[in-house]
Amino acid sequence: MEKILTGIRSTGTPHLGNILSVIIPSVSMANKNIKHSSFIFIADLHSMVQIENMKIIKNNTYKIAAAWLSFGLNIDNCLFYRQSDVSLVTELAWYFNCFYPYKRLALAHSFKKEMKKKEKINVGLFTYPILMAADILLYNAKIIPVGKDQLQHIEIARRIGNYFNKKIGKKLFVLPNAFLQKKNMFVLGTDGKKMSKSKKNCINIFSSDEVLKKQIMSIRTDSKSVKEKKNPETDYIMSLYSLIAPVDQIEIMKKKYIRGGYGYSEAKIALYEHIIHKFSSEREKFFSFMKKKSLLDHILALGAKKAKSIARKRLNCIRKHLKFNPII
Ligand code: TRP
Repeated sequence: MEKILTGIRSTGTPHLGNILSVIIPSVSMANKNIKHSSFIFIADLHSMVQIENMKIIKNNTYKIAAAWLSFGLNIDNCLFYRQSDVSLVTELAWYFNCFYPYKRLALAHSFKKEMKKKEKINVGLFTYPILMAADILLYNAKIIPVGKDQLQHIEIARRIGNYFNKKIGKKLFVLPNAFLQKKNMFVLGTDGKKMSKSKKNCINIFSSDEVLKKQIMSIRTDSKSVKEKKNPETDYIMSLYSLIAPVDQIEIMKKKYIRGGYGYSEAKIALYEHIIHKFSSEREKFFSFMKKKSLLDHILALGAKKAKSIARKRLNCIRKHLKFNPII
């Protein structure tokens, strides 16, 4: 059975886009996979590239953990851990730093994009894909569920693995493949652009009822009156509703759009009520986990212990090829 691995940065609470495109499909794959072949982790080291305040990172880590658990991740079956708790990964990242050509990495578009936007950029942002490659290659993971924005990072991980294998003359690393959830690839935010924390257009199912309602009521629409006929194909409320509602309900809403006499605010309320109803158990569990941080710490520590023992063996094998002594 092939190994599955994915990470989510602890930069905030997972939004509907993260949930539909990464969390739900990954939980389902990880729970079905054979024992200890799925790795789900919270990429807190990667978050440091963006967030300086470690208190915020730590608190976000709990939110991410609570989100995965509330969607039913089976922690007996998979390895669920904090990246910083298995710091052996940074050692592998260093080896990659020394093997991979600088010029190649400088081509990464996530880096080039940020370079254009900001004046002050840290080295971590530049080597971000290297650490991500280490996350994946350390465990020989093959299937990597990610959002579309991460495709180039997976490609870099493949190149690094291939590079290293060639240098050493042995297939030390399995080359990973991105796993894209096609249907939910583009979850649109309240402004009709791809839902993203940085764009502040998120629908956050793990916020209070009032905040969630406010977010949904802020979805941008055209200015058609209640009476007018509307186009269900181009409307953002409809696009979100179509991702989560049952087929017959979607059809009913579509008909109301086409018929006219159905206002956007009514559609928004329907979407809000559907979200509250659909995710009621996950929301309840999330809020309950957030009150039990020591339980979350305990769960993550158990996962880290298991991951560490695998990582240690793998790293010793890599060290041997580099003519280094085993880890004491
Ligand atoms: N870069 C990923 C993101 O922004 C998070 C991440 C870090 C990751 N390491 C990973 C995802 C390894 C998949 C595999 O979402």
